[in-house]
Amino acid sequence: MYFDPEPKTRREDLFNMENELKELSDGLKRGKLVVVTGLRRYGKTSLILTYLNEEKLDNIFLDCRLLPSGMISMDSFLDLLEAELNRKSWAKRMLSRVEGISISEIGIKLKKRDINSLVDVLHVLEGKILVIDEAQELRRSKHRFDSIIAYAYDHLNLKIVLSGSQVGLLYRFLRVDDPEAPLYGRPFKEVRMRKLSDEKAMEFLRKGFEQAGINVESHVLEEARRRFDGVIGWLTYFGFSMIDRRGPIEKIARRASKLAISELEHALRIYKPAESRYKEVLRIIATLEHARWAQIKRGVEARIGRIPNNTLSSILRNLVDSGFLEKVEEGYKIADPVLRSGILSYW
Ligand SMILES: Nc1ncnc2c1ncn2[C@@H]1O[C@H](COP(=O)(O)OP(=O)(O)OP(=O)(O)O)[C@@H](O)[C@H]1O
Ligand SMILES: [Mg+2]
Repeated sequence: MYFDPEPKTRREDLFNMENELKELSDGLKRGKLVVVTGLRRYGKTSLILTYLNEEKLDNIFLDCRLLPSGMISMDSFLDLLEAELNRKSWAKRMLSRVEGISISEIGIKLKKRDINSLVDVLHVLEGKILVIDEAQELRRSKHRFDSIIAYAYDHLNLKIVLSGSQVGLLYRFLRVDDPEAPLYGRPFKEVRMRKLSDEKAMEFLRKGFEQAGINVESHVLEEARRRFDGVIGWLTYFGFSMIDRRGPIEKIARRASKLAISELEHALRIYKPAESRYKEVLRIIATLEHARWAQIKRGVEARIGRIPNNTLSSILRNLVDSGFLEKVEEGYKIADPVLRSGILSYW
């Protein structure tokens, strides 16, 4: 079913991603590293899970959104790894021979909580696929996870998939273009997820409601396409909400916007105490729809006083790298229309 809100795992539930599936598959056949990028709700996790499931590939899938906020310790990373290892029956078999790992009824436990234990596990994973979903989260650590990934790349027979919705932050973490960085110069393939075209978005909605056996008037579908753009996750959210409790589209859109706002607020917490400046920048851009640098500066200063140029530049860069803003010909705009309407209405 297209409107199932969980990330998809089966080809028949995955709409229109044949090319991306092929790119991912070819990338891993030919090379060792694939980076799946795309803003929030573009379908990254669904793509990766469907590929792994359809090809029946043994894998370890680490969802870095599950890591605690603040600095990431080795201990919390190993907790995440252990939880995933415990979900795989093959992992228990293979790890039983490894020193420093205890396996009981409670499950797999790494006794030593340091980087060496992590490297030991990576060695055991040879021949498998390691997926690190939302890998940019790993930048929040004093441990150099980029070095560990480079080690696995260089020395282990391991295929690696990294994904990120904060694309700029992901590349700032990986630093593939920085000669000083551990992953510099390693060939990799990027699979870039995109929005659906207007036609494809309409087709997705039509087919989704057909599967659910629900008749929705085409002007409502048009309205949904307009509000949710071609973002497949929002279209799914809309479809699911219509099936679940019907109700007018305005109400569904309002709930979606509130969700987007709460995600934004969560992400902005790391910029404390400069949060209010970030907020003003976003408000002005949302109001103007798209805004050039000088307009943003004027707008922010009119409301909260002087802001140095380099401060504004770094705020804009962080917001672009986090996927909240997009740079377009006319300047900057809010990348997600659902977030924009939330900023304008409830923030
Ligand atoms: N190709 C697709 N066909 C049908 N539904 C999809 C497709 N891609 C994504 N979805 C749906 O859209 C929503 C978001 O998908 P998913 O979680 O895979 O995206 P994501 O890019 O990983 O999002 P996030 O950045 O929030 O992690 C889910 O409800 C999922 O079921
Ligand atoms: Mg995801």
